[in-house]
Amino acid sequence: MRLCLTDRQLIMASLLGPGTPVREVACLAEITFVFLKPEAVLRGLMGEIIARIERKGLRIRAMKLHRMSREEAERLYDVHKGKEFFERLVRHVTSGPVLLMVIEGPRAVEAVRKLIGATDPVEAQPGTIRGDYGLDITQNIIHAADSPERALEEMRIFFTEEEVKALWEGVG
Ligand code: CMP
Repeated sequence: MRLCLTDRQLIMASLLGPGTPVREVACLAEITFVFLKPEAVLRGLMGEIIARIERKGLRIRAMKLHRMSREEAERLYDVHKGKEFFERLVRHVTSGPVLLMVIEGPRAVEAVRKLIGATDPVEAQPGTIRGDYGLDITQNIIHAADSPERALEEMRIFFTEEEVKALWEGVG
């Protein structure tokens, strides 16, 4: 089983360094990177959120419970460096275990963003993950990459492509 990457993600992968397999077969699916924040893990919401992702038809390609280091959090949120909420955000996501996921499906980035709802849970529509489970913008339950390029960059902070591919070796 191959790791599906879109053409844009393949181009990014080829720019991101040696050892990156650039001869992947193009396919309709794309991958995105998601993680459940510590409050979701501590409140026992992992199962419900995973069920929503799977029920949508998306495939979980890789998943691990992880304690994020400060360095990883700063890398993940580098685009927010300098903003008023940056320190609060980094402190929060490093405060307990998070559940990291690589998710695949047709237009997975957009599909997952729709599933999770607006950044501020108070504004997120009921029926979305943040709309149903959250009230606080820092503790907003779940993070998802906002573009296919970012998805690949964010995934690579926590997973290697070889690691993800190995999980599916010989399947399908
Ligand atoms: P997330 O999807 O993890 O991406 C960046 C995070 O920054 C976001 O969810 C929020 O938790 C946080 N964030 C974004 N905008 C604000 C804001 N205006 N005030 C506080 N936190 C914010």
